[in-house]
Amino acid sequence: MSLQSFLVSTETHSSLFEQAIRPDMIPVCSEFKSASVAFEPVTTLTLDADIQALFPKIAEKGGAVLKAVASHHAVPTGQRIAVLFSGGPAAGGHNVICGLKQYLGDANVLYGVKAGPKGLIEGDLIELTSQMVDSVQNLGGFDLLGSDRTKIKTEAQLHAVKETVQKFNLNGIVVVGGDDSNTNAAVLADYLLPYGCNVIGVPKTIDGDLQFGEYLPISFGFDTATKIYAELVGNILQDTPSSRKYWHFVKVMGRSASHVALEVALQTKATLTLISEEVAAKQLSLDAIVDQIVDCVIARAKKGMNYGVVVIPEGLIEFIPNLDFNSLPESVQAQLQLDRDSHGNLQVSQIDTDALLIELTQRRLKEKDASVKFSANRHFFGYEGRCGAPSRFDAAYTYNLGLTAAALIVSGYTGYIVSVSQLDKGGLPLAIPLLTMISSENREGKVVPVIQKALVTLDSPAFQFFASRRDIWAASDHFSSPGPRQFWGPVAYQVPMTVALNQGFDALMFRFGSRQLVSTHV
Ligand code: FBP
Repeated sequence: MSLQSFLVSTETHSSLFEQAIRPDMIPVCSEFKSASVAFEPVTTLTLDADIQALFPKIAEKGGAVLKAVASHHAVPTGQRIAVLFSGGPAAGGHNVICGLKQYLGDANVLYGVKAGPKGLIEGDLIELTSQMVDSVQNLGGFDLLGSDRTKIKTEAQLHAVKETVQKFNLNGIVVVGGDDSNTNAAVLADYLLPYGCNVIGVPKTIDGDLQFGEYLPISFGFDTATKIYAELVGNILQDTPSSRKYWHFVKVMGRSASHVALEVALQTKATLTLISEEVAAKQLSLDAIVDQIVDCVIARAKKGMNYGVVVIPEGLIEFIPNLDFNSLPESVQAQLQLDRDSHGNLQVSQIDTDALLIELTQRRLKEKDASVKFSANRHFFGYEGRCGAPSRFDAAYTYNLGLTAAALIVSGYTGYIVSVSQLDKGGLPLAIPLLTMISSENREGKVVPVIQKALVTLDSPAFQFFASRRDIWAASDHFSSPGPRQFWGPVAYQVPMTVALNQGFDALMFRFGSRQLVSTHV
């Protein structure tokens, strides 16, 4: 084969990397090495009374968190399960489908819903064959099915979903989504219970804001996204003392929560990282934030360091108290007024907080010390982190989440979100009742159910560690380059530092099963 022909053969998801990673083995929790798994309670959590009233049918099932246990019974057969992606992409989504398919086998039918919740309403489902599923194993993106942000809320939408369920004779639906989508999964679970269709949620979002203490350490996609951003920030940090002339303002995705910014800070030791939740807790005004940056710029300039990297969480502007809207540049005012998405979220990815902070830093610097040289570049790292091939952690986590979701559905469970806890000790597959994570909010006189976004808490071990080191990182160059995410070699099994710190791990590596890799259906 000529080199040209060989290069043609690498088109369409067939790069050398994709060829190597696609069939690669995925570690599974030891429970899945048995014929099937059953579930038994670990602990029982209380349900909010308002929530019980809003979800009367699934509330009857109670608040018991379940763990998977090995079973010698065969996996039930003849069931028809559909899976959909909801919201923004996150690395590992395809492996959820691979895990589902692996557990269901050929004696059950797995459907994929095209284009997210909208496809469920419209009945746009396709049967997923082993060949289709195998083709995306260990690859990034949601492109096998697509996704969207439709919120299923009206009676007409629910009725349409019921029609889809009846048309395809579905026994179950797996909703792969974030906090809003999983609130929606609970709505669907309650509505579809009388029609014999079980609904299970899978925790997805690069934002990392879908967490539930020890039971749900992190959502999938966060690890891959932060490893990609940290590599880029590490590279920029490495550039700064080489070229010695730029400050870089890097906005990172993450919506309201600053988990992504905090993780990038821990991985790179960037010069300055802003944490929205701290801004809100300490009531730091926009002027105070700018002063903090300016003071750092001046202090470093005195040491001959006219450079540095500032990491900014994309949702920062929502957290700044008493923000004077009229004093903001017109472009930012317009961005703040963009339509919200169907779940009511501000489109923070479209707000140029990085440009705003650069402009204000320049202005303030002129007032404080006009002699300081300050030349700034801006970056936004968001979309580039959502669809890369899943890190080893995300690939394994999602595959095990898929196995767990399939096992729950075919065993007749509904209204749960799946998780794997004890990530450093072999992994424990769990099912958490969605209602234990949902609380009620009074919005315009109406009680509405919401899964609260898990924000960075200032007393968390991850934030505390960051706070204990950041002055040192700001004062001189202590940055480190985490490098590209690794698929082979000694650091391939690294988990997010924030997760390891907050979950009290002794080390940074995850371990599923006995470390022996189990071949999948590929
Ligand atoms: P999800 O909450 O749906 O996982 O999406 C996360 C996210 O990537 C945010 O970090 C970002 O603010 C938003 O999606 C961008 O949305 P869009 O894809 O609609 O531009």
